[in-house]
Amino acid sequence: MFKPIIALDFPSWDETRAFLQGFYGEPLYVKVGMELFYQTGPGLIASLKEMGHDIFLDLKLHDIPNTVGKAMKGLARLDADMVNVHAAGGSEMMKAAAEGLEAGTPAGKNRPVLLAVTQLTSTSEVQMQKEQGILKPLRDSVLNYAALAHESGLDGVVCSALEARDITDRIGADFLKVTPGIRLAGDDVSDQKRVVTPQKARELGATAIVVGRSITQAADPYAAYLKVKEQWGNA
Ligand code: C5P
Repeated sequence: MFKPIIALDFPSWDETRAFLQGFYGEPLYVKVGMELFYQTGPGLIASLKEMGHDIFLDLKLHDIPNTVGKAMKGLARLDADMVNVHAAGGSEMMKAAAEGLEAGTPAGKNRPVLLAVTQLTSTSEVQMQKEQGILKPLRDSVLNYAALAHESGLDGVVCSALEARDITDRIGADFLKVTPGIRLAGDDVSDQKRVVTPQKARELGATAIVVGRSITQAADPYAAYLKVKEQWGNA
């Protein structure tokens, strides 16, 4: 079972380190996104690994297949455990990403898990239809992207837990569903549109949950993490 993945959405290594000091050396699964990675650079991944953490490097690549393939080859050398692309980049781009990762993975190491982002959990159906011009229900778009990612050889998708069951039904239980948009009951939803609690995510068949502000902005982040872990594990 995946531990809850903590989104390290901080602007600097100093703030990240200070935050992690509150976890008493417990090995965590952390997510490094654009905010932190662009400020600190690749050295951050080695530092987090030395601290014993597993890493989801959430850079959501989306470019022409050649560029994404080469970028993934470089990222594979960093030793992250999970990486991702936008499914909207298409099947050719996703296949290039998988090939690049394979080519860049050092001998004796496992290729990082490769996920595709379907629709961001901050996207509403109205917004998707109006701004992306996808004139169908959001659920259909997510399923379409998930199937495309599966056919392209990816290991799973990033999606809302609300879509996990449909994806399992269509593609099978082994296909990973990594779900952000998680909030502890009573927490501020903020910019997320489709949120659920850790317990609900598990009930809906999510493989892993990504939790940011419910932990990082809590008065006591370690206590919030333990609460998330308990709800996730006990569902
Ligand atoms: O603070 P919060 O729990 O909303 O953070 C969610 C994290 O998951 C953020 O780092 C965000 O970039 C990421 N994410 C997301 N929706 C996706 C993919 C990633 O919210 N579809």
